[in-house]
Amino acid sequence: MERSLTMEIVRVTEAAALSSARWMGRGKKEEADDAATTAMRNVFDTIPMQGTVVIGEGEMDEAPMLYIGEELGTGSGSSVDVAVDPLEGTNIVAQGTWNALAVIAIADQGTLLHAPDMYMQKIAVGPEAVGKVDINASTLENLQSVAKAKNKHVEDVVAIVLDRPRHTKLIAEIREAGARIKLIPDGDVAAAINTAFDDTGVDVLLGIGGAPEGVLAAAALKCLGGEIQGKLVPSNDEEAARCKEMGITDIEKIFYMNDFCSGDDAIFAASGVTDGELLKGVQFKGSKATTQTVVMRAKSGTVRFIDGEHSLIKKPNLVMES
Ligand code: FBP
Repeated sequence: MERSLTMEIVRVTEAAALSSARWMGRGKKEEADDAATTAMRNVFDTIPMQGTVVIGEGEMDEAPMLYIGEELGTGSGSSVDVAVDPLEGTNIVAQGTWNALAVIAIADQGTLLHAPDMYMQKIAVGPEAVGKVDINASTLENLQSVAKAKNKHVEDVVAIVLDRPRHTKLIAEIREAGARIKLIPDGDVAAAINTAFDDTGVDVLLGIGGAPEGVLAAAALKCLGGEIQGKLVPSNDEEAARCKEMGITDIEKIFYMNDFCSGDDAIFAASGVTDGELLKGVQFKGSKATTQTVVMRAKSGTVRFIDGEHSLIKKPNLVMES
């Protein structure tokens, strides 16, 4: 993969963030998602790559844009797998709360997991706790391992968990272990990434979220030296059959970093749509807008935070011809 793609995909997540941020707090999650998807799709057309969507807005018959199998880019340059979540946290934007992101990961063709669109049980940690957690271990054991790895008491560890009824038992187990909990309404990609940054105050992501989001989180954690493990949780026979169709014959299979992202390289970018612990959301003032993006590359280990200031006069459609 060309190194220059690192900066190219920043323009894509920025455009998606700028477009969807207009919908902040307006109670319209679909409109926010459509705005992000359209903007992302438009900017992809300007990027010199031969991309194929492996994680996107759905199958070809369900999504008009950024559907699985769609080809992106100008058709020159590297052949890459593309994973997108134009708006990670549609409800977050609709309500104007925390941690909505526009997200992309790219990697050499054939190296990103084609995860089915269903739930996945996940555990994610930052670099200090890599190799110390095990999705099959008990909640107590994992919290104790994270505490030891981070030289903390279990009581000091913060587990981040989606606030869902399905997590009642998990939450009780974390409380029983004595650790602290951050319950979030949505957005487990940001939650997984945040485990790799001390300043965010979270140590481990636990619980069940979307499998496609697991692939995006894995690409980010590959760049950051962290780790995610996942296990698919089909909700019905149809989803179990879908796994088989996709070649996943063992439903109990644990997905490790190399299953999510098998190559030696990956590039990940996320722009804040609403404010979060790691990234500021989009701000508008008159004809200017500001964005904040984190972009990183696994091969080099470089992590950049990019503040963008955008002229809404010169770039009314958020794309320049050249
Ligand atoms: P959307 O942006 O598609 O709304 O996803 C937000 C999210 O919270 C993800 O971060 C998470 O993986 C998933 O939804 C959890 O699904 P559910 O809301 O069904 O519990």
